[in-house]
Amino acid sequence: MRVLLTGGAGYIGSHTLLKLLQDGRNSVMALDNFSNSSPEALRRVQKLSNSNFETHVGDYREPNVLDSVFDSFRPDAVIHFAGLKAVGESNEKPLLYYDQNVSGSIGLLDCMQRFGCKKIVFSSSATVYGEAQYLPYDEDHPLNPTNPYGRTKYFIEEIIRDWVASQSDASAVLLRYFNPVGADESGEIGEDPRTIPNNLLPYISQVAVGRLKELSIFGNDYETRDGTGERDYIHIDDLAAAHIQAVKFALDNRGCEAINVGTGKGVTVLEMVKAFEEASNREIPFQIKGKREGDVARSFAKVTKAQKLLGWRAEKDLVDVCRTAWNWQTKNPSGY
Ligand code: NAD
Ligand code: WQD
Repeated sequence: MRVLLTGGAGYIGSHTLLKLLQDGRNSVMALDNFSNSSPEALRRVQKLSNSNFETHVGDYREPNVLDSVFDSFRPDAVIHFAGLKAVGESNEKPLLYYDQNVSGSIGLLDCMQRFGCKKIVFSSSATVYGEAQYLPYDEDHPLNPTNPYGRTKYFIEEIIRDWVASQSDASAVLLRYFNPVGADESGEIGEDPRTIPNNLLPYISQVAVGRLKELSIFGNDYETRDGTGERDYIHIDDLAAAHIQAVKFALDNRGCEAINVGTGKGVTVLEMVKAFEEASNREIPFQIKGKREGDVARSFAKVTKAQKLLGWRAEKDLVDVCRTAWNWQTKNPSGY
């Protein structure tokens, strides 16, 4: 199959690109403007897969960029990763987020329609659920995102749903990722935040490698096993595999499905610190600080829909997460 990856050089895009190439039966193009990634990620994917793929450098919001990509590559399906993802920044610059994520996605769907490409897998997020009314979150849980970033994901989901309903043979899979973490086993590609990390695991890794002094733990009086926040951390390798299954599902079916991608199990911040200390054999100094605004106590997925529709389930565990994140961090202490 011919698959276009918007945002293909990013953290999740590069790992998915590698898996698509390792599958051996796919022709792939990565479109990226490198606004939050490095061309080196693509060079490393090429080396690791020992196979060629096409790259187009450009902004996916530019109609001429998309037209030229679709005209030359003629994809059967699109995996749409491109966009901005920082919750804090989205509170300060909501219009930027609506333009990059929502307007950009409308332009992409318009181009897909004009070129007769009717299959899309979209990077959505568990953040669309907002405060839990019950746990685990299943796909029917009410949607109530609490920040502009989360609302862009919610609006795009609805736009894709309407677009699919308007087309006779379109299909979409809205993958709601929980907390993607870890790195490829090779340690050649991984998560490479451009600024001080917002997310827990890259922050811990940078403390372990000596780039940051200590971890701030945001709250220890949540109603969880040890008082710290509990999340569903999904290994990037499993997440990449879910995309392969989702593309196949989109190609074989019609309609729009939202599907959780998680492990179904929650891990607390203190449990993650301990697991990372064991994997790295380093101490992670930390201080307990106040709660971070907008954080929920617990978040984890119901994963049966992914098993049923995609035949997919997470295989890697917390030990794999910490081992591969540490391998990537030590091999690339300053990123790419
Ligand atoms: P990332 O920033 O590493 O990847 C996004 C890629 O898109 C980057 O390579 C960036 O350069 C590119 N990009 C951004 N704007 C672009 C534009 N206008 N034109 C072309 N390329 C552009 O992020 P990621 O963690 O790989 O996330 C990928 C997707 O998954 C995003 O849509 C994100 O919202 C979603 N998501 C991520 C997480 C997470 O925790 N990482 C969780 C849920 C959902
Ligand atoms: C995990 C836990 C923190 C950093 C975010 C986005 C979400 C999604 C994934 C894209 C929480 C605690 C964290 C630190 C800490 N992204 N923590 N110290 O908040 O679940 O989700 O990333 O869609 O939209 O909101 O992930 O990794 O930031 O936090 O104590 O320095 O670690 O309070 O309990 P989160 P996270």
